Amino acid sequence: MKKEKFLFEKLGILSILILFFLTIQNKKEETIKASFIQEETDILLEKGYSLTQINEMMEYLNEENLNKILESNYTDLESFYKVPNFHFELLERYKAYRNLSNKSFENVVTEVNIHLDTPFYTDIKTIQNPEEITVLVNKYHALPKDYEPKDLTEIPSFPNLKLRKEVISDFENLLANALLDQVFLIPYSTYRSYEYQEELYNGYLEKEDQDIVDTYSARPGHSEHQTGLAIDIRSNSHWNSLTPEDYEWIKNNGYKYGFILRYSKGQEQITGYKEEPWHIRYVGIEHATKIHELNITWEEYYDLYLQ
Ligand code: DAL
Ligand code: ZN
Repeated sequence: MKKEKFLFEKLGILSILILFFLTIQNKKEETIKASFIQEETDILLEKGYSLTQINEMMEYLNEENLNKILESNYTDLESFYKVPNFHFELLERYKAYRNLSNKSFENVVTEVNIHLDTPFYTDIKTIQNPEEITVLVNKYHALPKDYEPKDLTEIPSFPNLKLRKEVISDFENLLANALLDQVFLIPYSTYRSYEYQEELYNGYLEKEDQDIVDTYSARPGHSEHQTGLAIDIRSNSHWNSLTPEDYEWIKNNGYKYGFILRYSKGQEQITGYKEEPWHIRYVGIEHATKIHELNITWEEYYDLYLQ
């Protein structure tokens, strides 16, 4: 008994000591943090920012942006820095775009991040992560010419068509569940190589001007079909499109199987393409569900949540 009491007392004293030590440590850290903030505040004041602005900057900016501002000369940040996806290095472009378009700070930041302040097919970046399910392929992001997914797999019920392996079971699920609702969908174009896309695009160019062709066909390297994650589907009764009812089904249910509608009406300015009700893109169930709720383009989602 006595021994236990002694042990309890010892443990009690030990806990008090630990608590005391932790409190001192915390205070020390707080003091360091406060003096760090004071240091930053002084630098920013010297640059010409007001105290109100500095307080807001501390509240809204992440460390990376704050450091960039600390390292550069005074610049009028307007209200751009309050937008979560703001990038300091794009500030001048945000300002120029807002002067032209008079859109909200949020829209300006997102649209410039997406590159919409420069014409399509300018400032093209080669995609570094082509095999990722969340890859962004568009008029500003090109797949390497020789990129072909390693795991291309035939769709069991449509063996002449190939998709990335990861897409197959979700797509077959989609087809089966659509059928249960009397929606008979048929895929007719899935993976397309760079060379095949080139053939298609050049074929269109023989018939129409490039500015028209660019509204419905991707230039080689810029087609999602090269990723093996995109599918063109049609209704059983149509040769290359969907009945309005089948389109509604896809619109309301595609996300449950990981698919989004990639080129929708009203989003042409962002995607760069006319509406394509038949073109669906696999992004996985989690992202597709969020996009369905938010009703935004893949470009916007990518900038807001995946960058
Ligand atoms: N029709 C779509 C945009 C493509 O060519 O990939
Ligand atoms: Zn397509």
